[in-house]
Amino acid sequence: MSLRILFLLAVLTAAAYPQDRSAGQKSFETRCAICHGGDGHGTDRAPAIYNKTAARDNASIATVVRNGLPGGMPAFQVPDDELAALTAYLRTLQPAPATGGGRPVVRETITLTDDKTMEGVMVARGLTDHQIRTDDGKLHLLRRVDDKYREVTSTVDWPTFHGDMSGNRYTTMNQITKENVKNLGAKWVYTVRNAQGLQDTPQVVGGIMYVTNVNFCVALDAGSGRQLWQWMRPSTQGAMGAGSNRGVAVAGDRLFIVTDNAHLVALNRYTGEQIWDTEMADWHQNYGATGAPLTVGNLVIGGVTGGEAGSRGFLAAFDQTTGKEAWRFWTVPKAGEPGSETWQGKDQEHGGGPTWITGTYDPQTDTLFWPTGNPAKEYNGDDRKGDNLYTDCLLALDAKTGKLKWYYQFTPHDMYDWDATEIPVLVDAMFQGQMRKLVLHADRNGFFYVLDRTNGKVLLAKQFIKELTWASGIGADGRPILKPSQEPTAAGTRVCPSQDGATNFYSPSFNPATGLFYFQTFEKCSIYQKAEGDWVAGKNYLGGVQRVAPGGKEEHILRAMDISTGTTKWELTESPGANGWGGTLATATGLVFFGEEGGAFAAADATTGKVLWTFGTNQGWKASPMAYMFDGKEYLAVVASGNVIAFALGD
Ligand code: HEC
Repeated sequence: MSLRILFLLAVLTAAAYPQDRSAGQKSFETRCAICHGGDGHGTDRAPAIYNKTAARDNASIATVVRNGLPGGMPAFQVPDDELAALTAYLRTLQPAPATGGGRPVVRETITLTDDKTMEGVMVARGLTDHQIRTDDGKLHLLRRVDDKYREVTSTVDWPTFHGDMSGNRYTTMNQITKENVKNLGAKWVYTVRNAQGLQDTPQVVGGIMYVTNVNFCVALDAGSGRQLWQWMRPSTQGAMGAGSNRGVAVAGDRLFIVTDNAHLVALNRYTGEQIWDTEMADWHQNYGATGAPLTVGNLVIGGVTGGEAGSRGFLAAFDQTTGKEAWRFWTVPKAGEPGSETWQGKDQEHGGGPTWITGTYDPQTDTLFWPTGNPAKEYNGDDRKGDNLYTDCLLALDAKTGKLKWYYQFTPHDMYDWDATEIPVLVDAMFQGQMRKLVLHADRNGFFYVLDRTNGKVLLAKQFIKELTWASGIGADGRPILKPSQEPTAAGTRVCPSQDGATNFYSPSFNPATGLFYFQTFEKCSIYQKAEGDWVAGKNYLGGVQRVAPGGKEEHILRAMDISTGTTKWELTESPGANGWGGTLATATGLVFFGEEGGAFAAADATTGKVLWTFGTNQGWKASPMAYMFDGKEYLAVVASGNVIAFALGD
């Protein structure tokens, strides 16, 4: 339709008002227009929706209207017939003529600095940055040079949750050094609407940054932070254990994200349009999903939550093209299967063992290294006597088939919620005089482990916190040497580390030049009380309660560990408290970046631990930093509560 005809239509519609208002229009004007505007083009209270309904079927619109959306869209009780009329009316909302306040589809031809032209639809535009979608569906990020444009992109990406398959969280970029880090400043900020405590590590692929929240993904120009598209879905009322989302996986033109109701969804990474949607598990059985998926070969691997709610954990792989399941590994075996003898009692039915942090991958042996979470019920082991395989384990799985190569269990028969969902870091290094393929793992239970990643054998296991009450060490057989009387009781048992763990899912990092492993730790203890309880759909399955032990000296300490001896080379005690969940990033220039307890994004000297730079965000951390190179400049980015902040050196 030409703009002129549209304009005429708009005039005619205006002239027809108010005689011919349909039931749908009346409903819209009474209920929705206050926020979305009388023409659906948005106001300061809500975004435009005239251009959003095409992407949603009627059922999806009904869910949005009846459940609301996290970003401030209220829930409405609308009778069925009114909803049908309202939906029909929503579908008639049109783009306005250029003068009409909304943003019509603008086609444009721009001239590049080499005098070639580029034609497409304008996606966004600022004073200096400009984004266009060409007819082949690709997005182009442009920068203004007088009246022409320069195309820009990233040359070093952060394409997965960990940045690479090994989980080292180590960047070889070298612009930001010990000397100039003091000049590091924020380049841009993007605020995710109504979001707090985001756990996402953003991904950057081909100049585009992807940031996620629960049932939400936004694509940004990684050099300016400008929004390119946004995808969202209403939250699932009653879904368990999915209060966060940690990121996406990318392969080719597709990206993959999990939802709060344990679906895995494929989107077009240039438009945010949905390609397929696969249910990994029935959420009514207390499943959710939060972890960033991982793409390997033609598969995308997705995990689930449910350790607190007693789902039966698994890891599964799906075909990237079709969304069809390729394999599934159950972390709690069924009766008769290998490992089932480690479950005596009824909790085998609802044994937990979730898979909610992204694993790592060794392409040489085509092996996935994926850690698993705690058994259920959480604080009461009476109905699950035995080791409870494969909870609190590191699994080595064949990536093509999901077949188990080996496993190592950090905390057999866990009663303290010590998920082993800390990141398994793959390193090839000289170890005790021999070149070895290692996996490094600092566990929530307070021990640091070096395993041989070809067979899962423990090469080294060392306590890394000061007070650890449950075990005196790890024996030659790889099993913890338990101390007596550490079981939760009705009256309460004091155990260290606390339920938050000696460390947790936030990222550690490894610098091959220093040989040091940098990770955030808590000195903190809990009182664990045991109780009875039955598994119920829609309810947590805790079997007790936990609280922070009174009178303890809680500390948050960044530790640098020599991986060949398991001794702490240096440690940095952060601002008072032990509640910040910020991860680390190591650089080839000898820096460690980390989210500090007091809310600062900070850099320390990797060899000495001396603090060299801080940037106060005054937010509580739940996320880990990442790095990329965009338009020739090295950036670091981190999600501080609801804000994505990108840092770079000044020009
Ligand atoms: C109090 C303000 C308010 C009212 C009233 C309101 N909305 Fe919304 N709506 C929002 C906000 C804010 C968002 C964006 C939500 C977010 O970002 O999470 C939104 C989002 C939406 C979306 C999703 C758009 C997308 O991106 O796909 C739809 C559809 C929608 N609203 C429809 C309606 C309808 C239909 C009504 C009337 C029944 C209505 N809204 C009334 C505030 C409102």
